[in-house]
Amino acid sequence: MDNNTETSLLHRDAAHLIHPLHSPKGHVGGKVWVGGKGAFLIDANGDRFIDGLSGLWNNTAGNGRSELADAAHQQMTDLAYSSGYTGSSNPRAIELAERLAAITYPNINHFFFTSGGGESTDSNIKMARYYWKLKNKPNKTKVISRIWGYHGVTLAAMCATGINSYWPMFEPRIPGFVHIPCPDPYRYRSSDSSVSVGIAAANELEKAILEEGADSVAMFIAEPVQGAGGVIVPPDDYFPRIREICDQYEVLLVSDEVITGFGRTGTMFGLEHWGVKPDLIQYAKAITSGYFPLGGIGVSDEIAQTMEDSGKPWMHAYTYSAHPTGCAVALAMLDIIETEDFPGQAKQKGARLLAGLRSALSGHPHVGEIRGLGMMCAVEYVKDTATGEMFPAEDAIGARIHEETVARGMFSRVRGDVYALAPPIVTEEQTLDDMVGILADATRAVIG
Ligand SMILES: Cc1ncc(COP(=O)(O)O)c(C=O)c1O
Repeated sequence: MDNNTETSLLHRDAAHLIHPLHSPKGHVGGKVWVGGKGAFLIDANGDRFIDGLSGLWNNTAGNGRSELADAAHQQMTDLAYSSGYTGSSNPRAIELAERLAAITYPNINHFFFTSGGGESTDSNIKMARYYWKLKNKPNKTKVISRIWGYHGVTLAAMCATGINSYWPMFEPRIPGFVHIPCPDPYRYRSSDSSVSVGIAAANELEKAILEEGADSVAMFIAEPVQGAGGVIVPPDDYFPRIREICDQYEVLLVSDEVITGFGRTGTMFGLEHWGVKPDLIQYAKAITSGYFPLGGIGVSDEIAQTMEDSGKPWMHAYTYSAHPTGCAVALAMLDIIETEDFPGQAKQKGARLLAGLRSALSGHPHVGEIRGLGMMCAVEYVKDTATGEMFPAEDAIGARIHEETVARGMFSRVRGDVYALAPPIVTEEQTLDDMVGILADATRAVIG
């Protein structure tokens, strides 16, 4: 038998590989990817699939971008690696920090690099705790985040992540992590009818701060649009109120831009939609379009100055921080993002995708909500649209719809019965329309 057919590769895979979210049963019928071009992936049998989630939300520029490969090749040839520890630097890291200072929020001008999102969450938690110690408020250590928030799964990041299926195998969690409800306009129910849903959901933060004691809370971390939790777009008044609460109680606002950064939602960074400036940001994924593992944090001038004034070293580090090759790829990617206007493209194409989904699927008796912002969309399937009642988990509606979309040439991900669509920003309009058609057919195949 050919050793490289998909079936045979999966057999060899099962013998030795442990996967993220490892599940031998879930891997049966998995895909083995061998190639890609633009918004398409090619499997080991030579079949072509629309990359409905840009890999894992990261590959906004699509596959086959020779500019990114050339940048990596050139940098690896000149200097493959050098330490980023104090005492060493490299030109690509310096240039990247300069470019990020120009395009991130105006108060964020100092950058530390990691290899991905989870490391960035840990770095921000450590930065926030250190900042408050320097401010003589050493008890401000707690982290508040949201249910359905995803911030990675290193131990500290896992504790911030608000999807509780990630916890039980690894308990006990680190003390001092608190979760508040998320501002899901479809599901959030407030007992306070005197204010809007967005304000009520933001006031959950104030409630938690008061319960915990403001002198014990270091930071609040939130994705501008919750991604892995099911593409939850907050009401417009949510983040402005969150900023007010953070200011009032001296809690640092951390914007997790690992998915929303670099254009995905139609602005360069997510909180720009609501005119809000965070104290700390984190990014990864699209900064290199997934071509190299690179992430990092961005720090406000106030926090950077406080660190600087302390005169002490920050005892936090990664071997691959400011990796020259990663930074070179990120610089080439920023050229693409800027010259091809990724925020503008995401805005326009995302609106087309959302309108297409709405026209094909709204009114379906089991489609509860169709939502999105820029090139981040989702369809939520429910048993009863009048009440929002969910299908029983054992019906596996989301998983079955996913299977049907794969059979029709599209590969994405589901969270329960929420089907997410976040294709590369370069996806052509015809392909966006095809995605809508595939999801509509798959929906009919499973739930009529
Ligand atoms: C918003 C957000 N933060 C953090 C992470 C974790 O990133 P990584 O998987 O690179 O650790 C992710 C991953 O999907 C994410 O979506």
